[in-house]
Amino acid sequence: AIERTLSIIKPDAVAKNVIGQIVSRFEAAGLKVAAARMVQLSRLEAEQFYAVHKERPFFKDLVDFMISGPVFVQVLEGENAILKNRELMGATDPKKAAAGTIRADFADSIDANAVHGSDATETAAVEVAFFFPALDVYSR
Ligand code: CMP
Repeated sequence: AIERTLSIIKPDAVAKNVIGQIVSRFEAAGLKVAAARMVQLSRLEAEQFYAVHKERPFFKDLVDFMISGPVFVQVLEGENAILKNRELMGATDPKKAAAGTIRADFADSIDANAVHGSDATETAAVEVAFFFPALDVYSR
């Protein structure tokens, strides 16, 4: 099925100036950018976005990192987009990410891991809506 998923290029990858290289991988895999913008998250916004993790020991470090610089948020659309994006990203921990994945090639640590991608249909819908009103998402 054609799906939409939320992708975030995190502060580490934005700082490395590899936004275009990462977006190219999505495009080469057949995903289309349906919406995109740069945003500097506030602490409250980052805490809200990652609310499912708020009891986890890494929550504060995660939020500190995600507000350390601007991020590039996108809606990716395409056949099986949620899983396809996760395969392109590789494992959360770059040490465990398969060769050739975005995290293997661009991430430095489990916190500075270059990208975020929605993990399931329900979370994708919530995460897309968090950043983009429906009017600003373009199927094409
Ligand atoms: P992300 O896909 O953005 O979702 C939550 C983030 O928490 C994850 O990527 C990691 O960057 C970060 N994180 C830090 N430690 C852990 C951990 N032990 N397990 C999962 N995620 C972690």
